[in-house]
Amino acid sequence: MTDIFGFDRQIDRGSLPGEKWGRYAGRDVLPLWVADMDFAAPPAVIGAVQARVAHGVFGYTQPWPSLVEAVVDAVERDHGWRIEPDWLVWLPGVVSGFNIACRAVGEPGDEVFTATPVYPPFLSAPANSERRLVSRPLELAGGRWGWNRAAVEEAIGPRTRLFMLCNPHNPVGRVFDRDELGWIADLAERRDLVICSDEIHCGLVLDDGLPHLPIAALDERVARRTITLMAPSKTWNIASLYCALAIIPDPALRRRFRDAMRGIVPHVNLLGLVACEAAYRDGGPWREALLEVLRANRARVAAAVADMPGLASVPPEATYLAWIDCRGAGLEHPAAFFEAGGVGLSDGAPFGAPGFVRLNFGCPPATLAEALARMQRALRGR
Ligand SMILES: Cc1ncc(COP(=O)(O)O)c(C=O)c1O
Repeated sequence: MTDIFGFDRQIDRGSLPGEKWGRYAGRDVLPLWVADMDFAAPPAVIGAVQARVAHGVFGYTQPWPSLVEAVVDAVERDHGWRIEPDWLVWLPGVVSGFNIACRAVGEPGDEVFTATPVYPPFLSAPANSERRLVSRPLELAGGRWGWNRAAVEEAIGPRTRLFMLCNPHNPVGRVFDRDELGWIADLAERRDLVICSDEIHCGLVLDDGLPHLPIAALDERVARRTITLMAPSKTWNIASLYCALAIIPDPALRRRFRDAMRGIVPHVNLLGLVACEAAYRDGGPWREALLEVLRANRARVAAAVADMPGLASVPPEATYLAWIDCRGAGLEHPAAFFEAGGVGLSDGAPFGAPGFVRLNFGCPPATLAEALARMQRALRGR
């Protein structure tokens, strides 16, 4: 395939302070940690942002009709879910969204459920709102991460009010299927839970046979109790433009969510909104090409990890993140060990799983090949 979007190009990010490569400035460490990619954003997005910057006036701005239309159309086109413009609440980030959800649901002292391992801000969000975190581990069975349904049912008590779901899942990479989502929806109905579903990775499904299903799209009953969080940031690699949205069909729940935001959550910045419209409306060809690159990188990671003594990983169904079990390798601190070997990975401990690391393969194949070779050398050189 010709690389028309430049996914093979190694762009120098080392000179940029304060970001992924900046952490290792002056050191020979390849950064495969924080969840952004080393690719330039789609030309359609860059062009839209450049045109808006060229205008030169950056006054207060509200989301506008063609932007809302681009989002509504994209959610239907990509996920088969027809949403109403009224259901949208614009946010400066998905992390803000699930923290607001914790504040908006229940009372201080109530419980929030989530499954581990998970993106670390899930684990700190309940305490930010004086809620208590209740968690149970996902389990690896038959080569696939999934739910221990009995353990989850047992963990949810009378004070549990919110179920925080991450789908597609960071870090295990699962795209939860209709049966799993149906069980969560039914559980929420039986126990009267609100679901906050973080679907930020929904544009990054790597397997055609496993479509992303927004849990709120299952039926109207679950839609009424669900806050769905989406953003263009992961798929189109525009994380620092900070633009996200909550989709909340139920007016009363939406009102509670907005009440919890009032006075403390800023409006989305103008360039984030501009990029969002361009990404959702015109970013399709770039996304398709990206997914090809990520599939090939996923296969490289799988092959390399299979050859690393004591390491194990299940290839993710979505995301550009590989979740690697290092417990068989006898490493006291796997992330520190690989960093000393020249590769910066995310430590599993903050995700609730010490002994694991997360590897970000959203980078040019040459960067990935060098990082995997360094990991292999580090393990062999012990
Ligand atoms: C599951 C998940 N949610 C949220 C975020 C971050 O969202 P935001 O930057 O919009 O706050 C990430 C980033 O890695 C993520 O993986």
